[in-house]
Amino acid sequence: MYRKQIKNICCIGAGYVGGPTMAVIADKCPDINVFVVDKNKSRIDAWNSPDLDLLPVYEPGLKEIIKRVRFKNLFFSTETIQNIKKADAIFISVNTPIKTSGLGAGQASNLKWVEACAKEIAEFSEGHTIVIEKSTLPVRTAEIIKKILFSKLKKDINHDKTFSILSNPEFLAEGTAIKDLEFPDRVLIGGEEENAINQLKTIYERWVEPSRIITTNLWSSELSKLVANAFLAQRISSINSISALCEKTGADINEVSRAIGFDSRIGSKFLKAGPGFGGSCFKKDILNLVYLSRYFGLKETANFWEQVVIINKWQKERIYSIIVNKLFGNITDKKIVILGFSFKANTNDVRESPAIEISQYLLSEGANLSISDPKVDEENIKLSLNGIKTGLSNQDLNEYGNWHFERDIYKALKNADAAIVLTEWDTYKTINWNKASDLMNSPGWIFDTRSIIDGNVVKDSGLEFWSLGNGDYD
Ligand code: UDX
Ligand code: UDX
Repeated sequence: MYRKQIKNICCIGAGYVGGPTMAVIADKCPDINVFVVDKNKSRIDAWNSPDLDLLPVYEPGLKEIIKRVRFKNLFFSTETIQNIKKADAIFISVNTPIKTSGLGAGQASNLKWVEACAKEIAEFSEGHTIVIEKSTLPVRTAEIIKKILFSKLKKDINHDKTFSILSNPEFLAEGTAIKDLEFPDRVLIGGEEENAINQLKTIYERWVEPSRIITTNLWSSELSKLVANAFLAQRISSINSISALCEKTGADINEVSRAIGFDSRIGSKFLKAGPGFGGSCFKKDILNLVYLSRYFGLKETANFWEQVVIINKWQKERIYSIIVNKLFGNITDKKIVILGFSFKANTNDVRESPAIEISQYLLSEGANLSISDPKVDEENIKLSLNGIKTGLSNQDLNEYGNWHFERDIYKALKNADAAIVLTEWDTYKTINWNKASDLMNSPGWIFDTRSIIDGNVVKDSGLEFWSLGNGDYD
């Protein structure tokens, strides 16, 4: 029984990680049945929607894969118990947000859903099951999962259950998830039992070079995921801190990035200055690292990594102050257009998007926002801005502050005093600035926080222009 091949996979959590990852596994392993379960029925209904434009996750290339494998060997449902029972391997891909209260609030991850998954697996699994941590988790979470699984075994002496626990963190980035899954830089598998490691390895070996599959012990695997994200985020805070210096000195952050990126020891990736990193992982993972370091009394390590998050917040505040100053220190009742609400291009995800905090600052100062994004839905914006008050009379102008959603860029720009590019969507690169200038108030300002707009063309149209990290436009 122990050595049987993985034939049925169950993945708990049909989100940005679980959905695309399981779609690719099903596509690459036609002989394996993959069952993705989620407690959120409307999310499952969306995954099963006949209209592939209604899938809950937008990722280039995902629709095509879903079309090939859905209802063949990839199934989405809410039937957790049934699918746990028949699974040889179970991936835990549920979300692990930062705790908002209690011990470690603001830094440690909330593991209540991971614990709940482990309890369900302990209760309903049959025979031997490989339990795989896919969600990014604090170091030594595998120990918690192990304790839950094995405490059930101790109580139930007539059981036929055995478990192996593996850590197999995901390194996919949203917007390029399918490419990252199909051509990964590496696949990391952490565990203590060679047999279980090899069974999971066999799955990835169908399409990944064996030399790219790294195996480590459980704790190294869990820690490596946090550290990888911390290093990536650190590069962004480093370059963002220099963007402010460029504005003061007349240097251009893109030229500086290019010049340093040519050094093969530094490398050219992840050196794009912007409004700050967003997404569900970077901030959470760094704060977990900070929490872990403090817990073990490593004050200097904790302070070093915390600074990455502090710079990220400062970058957003800095941008907001520049906008207010350029608009003569007063934005009350001015119409400001937010171009891009997702945390980066090619995703509909808004978690930790810099647009949220920047919009909140502007709303609290009385601005009237017109928010535009090619993929994000109004409902998601509403949820992220919920509870914002305007600075005007200390009362809500409407339930969510003084903003409205407008998908059409030119309708959004009509009578606007300013527009801020916050996400690097391709569509913003081709805006007709003469048309925009005719529609906007005068003086009209364009703020480009992603360096995707040609400032000369904007200025020729009669609009004012500011670009992040570019001393020429200060
Ligand atoms: C990611 C990663 O998995 C994780 O590494 C990171 O730490 C945070 O978020 P993601 O797929 O992006 O997860 O999260 P999300 O899109 O929120 O999906 C999680 C899904 O799990 C949700 O659809 C939620 O309904 C589901 N879930 C959660 C369950 O089905 N059961 C639970 O008990 C809890
Ligand atoms: C990240 C990691 O890249 C991925 O390996 C991990 O599994 C999950 O977290 P993701 O958050 O989806 O992926 O996107 P990523 O491309 O890393 O971008 C994160 C944020 O950094 C975005 O807000 C992006 O705009 C910003 N960013 C990225 C920059 O500002 N400059 C850069 O040079 C790169």
